[in-house]
Amino acid sequence: MSSHSSDAAARLSVRDIRRRKGATPLVCLTAYTAPMAEILDPHCDVLLVGDSVGMVLHGLANTVSVTLEMMILHGAAVMRASRRALVVVDIPFGSYEAGHETAYANAARLLKATGAQAVKVESGPTVDETIAYLTRRGVPVMGHVGLRPQAVLTEGAFRARGKRPEDYACVIAEAKAAETAGAFAIVVEGVAEPLAREITAAVKVPTIGIGASAGCDGQILVTDDMLGLFDWAPRFVRRYAELRLEITAAVTQYARDVRARDFPAAAETYFAKAEV
Ligand code: KIV
Repeated sequence: MSSHSSDAAARLSVRDIRRRKGATPLVCLTAYTAPMAEILDPHCDVLLVGDSVGMVLHGLANTVSVTLEMMILHGAAVMRASRRALVVVDIPFGSYEAGHETAYANAARLLKATGAQAVKVESGPTVDETIAYLTRRGVPVMGHVGLRPQAVLTEGAFRARGKRPEDYACVIAEAKAAETAGAFAIVVEGVAEPLAREITAAVKVPTIGIGASAGCDGQILVTDDMLGLFDWAPRFVRRYAELRLEITAAVTQYARDVRARDFPAAAETYFAKAEV
């Protein structure tokens, strides 16, 4: 039996996640590496291998240059180190927009190569047919409405959507279209509180908010933001740790110890065994 099939029973499935609509809020975080996935897994319902990996780990300015190969590498690492959470991998910019068959081939490649259970697609006016095409052919899809980071080049910036009541209808329609197309859950990013509540009430699948208020069925944050690994984080991020400060203090001390020949000490040194 392969490792994918043997651990499948212990993992949450897309059906488990869908059933959590209106119940205990879904706990979701991003994960890109094996050590982090191992730490997060027991606490999370969903681990998202987001294309934010391009900005968070690879220093890219946005997610547009993220490739399928990057998502496969990080998705496989997260799968190897997790046992319980549903693992969802972002399908990156340029790998699903050109046509349904290309989208299917790339989504299937992501699932086969990583062992993950679902892909996330940034929904939009043209994407619903793609979501329907994928879900009808066995690819579970998580939608993503509101602020869509992959649209940064056409939008000119990371632009929050639905700030004004006159914009609500459009975002609600996108969420409903993603649901109708078969999405099992929908990320709602960067929208004002009343709209998040309206979207959540309008769809029967769970909504997972990021910068979208407590009005969603679950929450997701970029793990590195909530752990305080960056100087700056968006306003909606609660920082649960200040790891950047802790790492800086540790490295400062290490550099001091090495320069003072305080490290390594005897306890950190191998000695030759005494001859008998
Ligand atoms: O790429 C990502 O990490 C995401 C989350 C911010 C939802 O899409």
